[in-house]
This record gives sequence, structure tokens and C-alpha cells, in this order.
Amino acid sequence: MAKIIAGFASSHVPAIGAAIDNKQTHDPYWQRVFSGFEKAKKWIADARPDVVIAVYNDHASAFSVELIPTFAIGCAAEFQPADEGWGPRPVPVVMGHPQLASHIATSAILDGFDLTIANKMEVDHGLTVPLNLAFGSPSAWPCPVIPIAVNVVQYPPPTGKRCFDLGRAIRKAVASYPEDLRIVVFGTGGMSHQISGPRAGLINSKFDKAFLDRLTRDPKGLAAMPHIEYMREAGAEGIELVMWHVMRGALDDKVKEVYRFYTVPASNTAVGNIILENVAKPAKKAAAKKSPPKKAKSLRKAA
Ligand SMILES: [Fe+2]
Repeated sequence: MAKIIAGFASSHVPAIGAAIDNKQTHDPYWQRVFSGFEKAKKWIADARPDVVIAVYNDHASAFSVELIPTFAIGCAAEFQPADEGWGPRPVPVVMGHPQLASHIATSAILDGFDLTIANKMEVDHGLTVPLNLAFGSPSAWPCPVIPIAVNVVQYPPPTGKRCFDLGRAIRKAVASYPEDLRIVVFGTGGMSHQISGPRAGLINSKFDKAFLDRLTRDPKGLAAMPHIEYMREAGAEGIELVMWHVMRGALDDKVKEVYRFYTVPASNTAVGNIILENVAKPAKKAAAKKSPPKKAKSLRKAA
């Protein structure tokens, strides 16, 4: 059976993509940012997921402002990098996993979670930058990716609770997929930032670090945070953090934080990365706890 082994959350700052594309990753400014992802790259290279489910938001690239689905799942065989105004990013085409994506759509929708099915969709920096941060700049991405786009560009975005529940629906769907696949769920976006208005440039490290802490140990409480709190504490674009709840909802209640990185700034945002592994039940301990069958006990006594 397929199983979700871990969650990988990171910012998807467009300027990070530009730094990669313009070969500036070793500049002192960017070195600070990229060096923080080296351990994450090593972790995912060792984890070798068969499939990544990437939760991100489209920035009016695939959907435009005329049509904005709240949740859309990419069921296509491939997803071309979008032209975001200066030509598509020079990154590999994202290969999908139509069978698993259709299975997740079927399971979630028939279970009452209405997803929009995207059979053709281009993907922008919201998805491709985290792929770079995890996998570097290969000639082909190492595994298929199922994009799940979340509206955070026009009010009202979904609540944190609804995002968390989508994660739960994804987890349930994956658990009933018959092929042995090891899956990592990406949550992208954020952290605190505001692009325009009188508070442009806002960064709140205290909020961001508390968010990372609670994501591990109090995910349901964190998912209940209302939109206004993101807006007030993390800036208008800090609302992108709701997408991290999809990742967290897809994991077990108990997880192990295996890596965290946080730095300020990258462009005009805070940058964060966290990796959470599902805590597998140790088979030996479970067996030891199991008491011998009563009948056997009485047989031993009689002997
Ligand atoms: Fe974004």
C-alpha cells in the first residue's frame, strides 16, 4: 500500500527562483539562504520518495483572476512551467502521477471533499521553487509530482482547519492506494511577509518561529487560527501559511521534527523550512506488549 512518510514545508519566494536561474546562489546574500537547505536536500535524497504531493498556490499563472478554484488537484501526466511574465523558468517539466492523483480526487470527492480536477495546468514558482530547494537543479525531477493548488490570492482563502482536513482526506486516499509508494507531502508558501501597502516589508520572526513550534506539537490548535491573525501578525501574504496545514493534516498526529531552518530576509520575506517524519510504530515493542494467549498460559501452568 502507498504511505505518506513525511512532510516537507518551505517558502516559495520567487526571488529564490530568480537567484537559481541567474546563477547567483553563491553570492553572499543568497549563500545564507541556500546553505540552509543543504541538509534538507540530503534528507530527501536519502528518503527517495516515489511521489511528491505538492501543495502550493497559483499566482494568477494557470487560473488567472477570472477563475480561482479553492482547491485544485493536477491529474495530468505532465505540467509545463508557466510563463510568469519573463518566460517560463528554465526548470524541467513536472511529471505527474495521473493514477494516484485520480485516486485521491475520487476518494476525497466521494468522501465529501470537493476538489477541482485540473487535467491541464501550468505550474509557477509556487511549485517549482520548492522543488529546486529540495532537489537542486537536475535535468529531470527525480520523481512524479502531484500538484494541489490552493487559493490564497483572493479573499476568502480556505480556513486553516479546512486545509488541515484536506490533508486528512489526502492521507485517507493514499492509505487505500494499492501500489507500494513512499510519498512526501510538500506544504509551501509564507512565511511572514507583506508585499504592498503601508506595512510592506513586514516580517515577524517571533510569529514564524512559534508557528513552526506549534506545527509539530499542536497542529490542530494551530489550524484553528483565524485569518485575521495571519493578516495582523504575519502580513497580508502570510496567509500563504494555511497551505502548511494541508501537509500537516496528511501526517500522523505524532511526528518527529527532523530538520528546521529559518532565515530573514530573502527578498522581502522570511524563509522557513521544516521536515516532519511520521513516527513509525516499532514492530518489536508492539510484539513485546502483546500478552500470550490465555489458553497457552493455562497450558503452561498445567505442565
Ligand atoms: Fe506565493
